Amino acid sequence: MTNDHTGKSNHPGVFISTDEIDARVRSLAAEISADYADRDLFLVGLLKGSFVFLADLIRKLTVPASVDFMAATSYVGTKSSGTLIILKNLNESVRGKNVLIVEDIIDTGLTLSDIRQRLLDEQPESLRICTLLDKPARREQHVPVDYVGFEIEDRFVVGYGIDYDERFRWLPYVGVVDS
Ligand code: IMP
Ligand code: MG
Repeated sequence: MTNDHTGKSNHPGVFISTDEIDARVRSLAAEISADYADRDLFLVGLLKGSFVFLADLIRKLTVPASVDFMAATSYVGTKSSGTLIILKNLNESVRGKNVLIVEDIIDTGLTLSDIRQRLLDEQPESLRICTLLDKPARREQHVPVDYVGFEIEDRFVVGYGIDYDERFRWLPYVGVVDS
């Protein structure tokens, strides 16, 4: 039986293992839990890439957290439109909330800086950013990042929620497809 359409017949090489991710998510969760010990935490996951990371992170927190999701793209078809298009907005305003944006990977920083500003405009009590992966070499727009899982070199990575053309999100580790 072939399962080519799922990408499961072709496994990218391991870049960050499941065990390494698990240990790092555990320590990030401990750090975030300590920082939000006396505040209500509101996680804003950016779809689709953050869904696996957020699911693991929220279960390792020792503080209660609410959660909502946003989806955005700067691309229409294969061309960047230059402006961010919000495909799914939050169900309610973040006004007065202690917001933690949860992202899969920060590359140019353009997506996050735009979303950060949109959320700041709603006057949250506080706003921080948590990303599993950060590629600082590719940054075009500065964005303050408070919690980083792994800083990585400029490689195209997939897995643990992150896709290449909608493939490989299911991989339990972070792999590379560019080598
Ligand atoms: P940027 O920071 O605005 O350039 O966009 C970051 C988004 O680009 C991430 O949320 C991913 O969806 C995507 N992205 C950036 N680097 C990679 C990668 O190595 N693999 C898969 N998606 C990536
Ligand atoms: Mg993304």
